Amino acid sequence: MKQKHPIHVLVVDDEKPTRVLMERELPQSGCNVVVVPSGEEALQLLSRQDFDVVLLDLKMPGLGGIETLRRLRSSGTEAEVVVLTGHPGVESAVEAMKLGAYDYLTKPFKLSEVEAVLRRAAEKRKLREENIALRRIVGQGDAAAVILGESHAMRALLEMVQRVAVSHAPVLIAGETGTGKGLIAKALHQASPRAEQHFLVINCSAFQDQLLESELFGHERGAFTGATSTKAGLFEVADGGTVFLDEVAEMSPAMQAKLLQVLDTGDLRRVGGTRERRVDTRIFAATNRDLQQEVHAGRFREDLWFRLNVVSLSVPPLRERKEDIPILIEHFFRQFRVPGQQPKSLSPEALSLLVQYPWPGNVRELANTIERLVLLIPGTLIEPEDLPANIRPSVALPSEEGDPPLPLAEVERISIIRALKYTGGKKAPAARLLGIDVKTLTHKIQRYDIQI
Ligand SMILES: Nc1ncnc2c1ncn2[C@@H]1O[C@H](COP(=O)(O)OP(=O)(O)OP(=O)(O)O)[C@@H](O)[C@H]1O
Ligand SMILES: [Mg+2]
Repeated sequence: MKQKHPIHVLVVDDEKPTRVLMERELPQSGCNVVVVPSGEEALQLLSRQDFDVVLLDLKMPGLGGIETLRRLRSSGTEAEVVVLTGHPGVESAVEAMKLGAYDYLTKPFKLSEVEAVLRRAAEKRKLREENIALRRIVGQGDAAAVILGESHAMRALLEMVQRVAVSHAPVLIAGETGTGKGLIAKALHQASPRAEQHFLVINCSAFQDQLLESELFGHERGAFTGATSTKAGLFEVADGGTVFLDEVAEMSPAMQAKLLQVLDTGDLRRVGGTRERRVDTRIFAATNRDLQQEVHAGRFREDLWFRLNVVSLSVPPLRERKEDIPILIEHFFRQFRVPGQQPKSLSPEALSLLVQYPWPGNVRELANTIERLVLLIPGTLIEPEDLPANIRPSVALPSEEGDPPLPLAEVERISIIRALKYTGGKKAPAARLLGIDVKTLTHKIQRYDIQI
């Protein structure tokens, strides 16, 4: 019974010879064994400690096996239970199965039988936890990641992806929002030796500390209010595969410290848990912030940054690789095409406007724009006037020859208001649209007394 992690087994039997035998023999086949002589003690221990499998004798004085099983199930313990029956007591074995036992063994049994059933029970528990975890995962999907791009920058990036995919090193993916960081991460995993294993994505900004910690590392039952059952964390479930930490810069200092510890040692402990689990999970992380700057500002741990940044990839913004825009447009026209509808195309003027536009929301904004055009424009040829107002040439600023010129400060003020309106009040993309940094923008907003 060779396997990577020991199976944690609790043996509950009032007969000393059985306890001694199990305690002596099972560790040789990769089990970690604890023995107790009664149902009462078993329940007590299970409320504090997690086991994979409970080997439960049915015939015991005091709290009998069946009653122990009943209480154990209603307490929410995740362990699988294998019952031991003395004589061919098939009836109670059937009852135990009805109560949720995984299997039963009839005494006297061979050790090889015990080992086989333990291994199957532990495997079942693992699968069950994986299924639960998989249902929680966002952004999971088996479709191959298709990354389009003919620009020099994208070609160089894709070459890097192929090159670094084969190692087991962490990869840090940086880039503005919507540039394709998620897609790159998926492609990296698919090109890696871990492709057949899990690729699990977690958005670090979407959880409070405690929940994030429990998502990543798992928790034991009762570890905190609401932890009604044991849960395996993503690192554990993705063992052998990859975990993608999206928006990693949003992690709190406390979580950063915890993550660093796991990366340093390769061992993790569930929240409220007592045992260390060794995992072999590859880490990808992504951020749309300048992580180095976050480190300088004291918001991100430098040691964690070093750990994550073994290999770093930077996805260029779309405005710096305008050559990619036409193929992406074509791709999204195909992707969003309504079945039965005539394929649409762009007039050269419309295409040229889309290429000129700075795309502060990058590829995602482009995809959304095309999707809207496909749905909303009735004809097959899309003209400039069909494009969203922000992409069409400016009409807000007076440009008529005969109009008196505006003071430059007024032009600036109008541009800032337009940019903020366009980004829904978000400063970072607005600053990018305006070609200035956020600090300058903030300063000007104050100076012109602009209400966001
Ligand atoms: N090069 C590309 N080829 C094809 N599709 C792309 C490309 N880049 C991005 N996309 C698509 O654009 C959308 C946005 O990409 P993605 O979610 O990977 O960006 P992101 O950088 O992770 O964004 P955020 O910072 O908001 O998380 C996705 O639908 C993705 O499939
Ligand atoms: Mg993303």
